[in-house]
Amino acid sequence: MGKSLLIIGAGGHARSVLESATFSYEKISFFASDPKSKIDGYEVFSGELPQNFDEFIVAIGDNKTRLKLTREYIAKGLRAAIIIHPSAIVSDRAKIGLGSVVLAGAIINAFAEIGAACIINTGAIVEHDCRIGDGAHLSPGAALGGTAIVGEASWICIGANVANNITIGWGAIVAAGAAVVRDVPSDVLAAGVPATVKKELK
Ligand SMILES: CC(C)(COP(=O)(O)OP(=O)(O)OC[C@H]1O[C@@H](n2cnc3c(N)ncnc32)[C@H](O)[C@@H]1OP(=O)(O)O)[C@@H](O)C(=O)NCCC(=O)NCCS
Repeated sequence: MGKSLLIIGAGGHARSVLESATFSYEKISFFASDPKSKIDGYEVFSGELPQNFDEFIVAIGDNKTRLKLTREYIAKGLRAAIIIHPSAIVSDRAKIGLGSVVLAGAIINAFAEIGAACIINTGAIVEHDCRIGDGAHLSPGAALGGTAIVGEASWICIGANVANNITIGWGAIVAAGAAVVRDVPSDVLAAGVPATVKKELK
């Protein structure tokens, strides 16, 4: 008997996670805060969180919310999934934390460490020895050079490139298409080529 999965969230990211999850789970259901009709024939529960599933994944795009809920449900004793699309290339020497997803065509190279509740989105590249904090999101096509560090709940937007050995703080946003060649502090938006700090986020 195959495993069952509860996908928490029912928006665009949840649909991407469904696409990857169908390869490794026999039964999949969604949980949404508001009642919703089925998604591609899959049941969407609301109200009380269902308990009759083997693993859960929080598939909510907002980094802090995804991380908070993942930690809360793990603390309650629920088992977090790690979902990897079969077309992703993940080194056996890499580590991926609970509640994280690696979507189609992403590449994670040797000795990279991905935290909990992360999103490594379609076609993103995480080079060797990178460390990605809990709740971070690499959007489609974002690339990290070797030994880069991304802090907790930071968001590297679509198509951004981060040079090797760079550190991005926590809660930072690196805007679409940026080229990061200097460290980025926590809680700022950095954008441009080369990327500079555009604003504080707090
Ligand atoms: C970063 C982003 C989310 C915008 O955030 P925001 O808080 O609304 O930013 P603002 O619009 O207030 O921009 C602040 C400044 O940064 C600049 N900026 C924002 N995004 C930029 C980008 N991608 N490239 C260059 N400059 C950018 C703005 O022009 C503005 O500069 P100014 O103060 O000189 O006018 C958006 O630009 C972005 O990159 N979106 C991509 C999202 C993504 O990856 N989606 C995929 C999801 S899977």
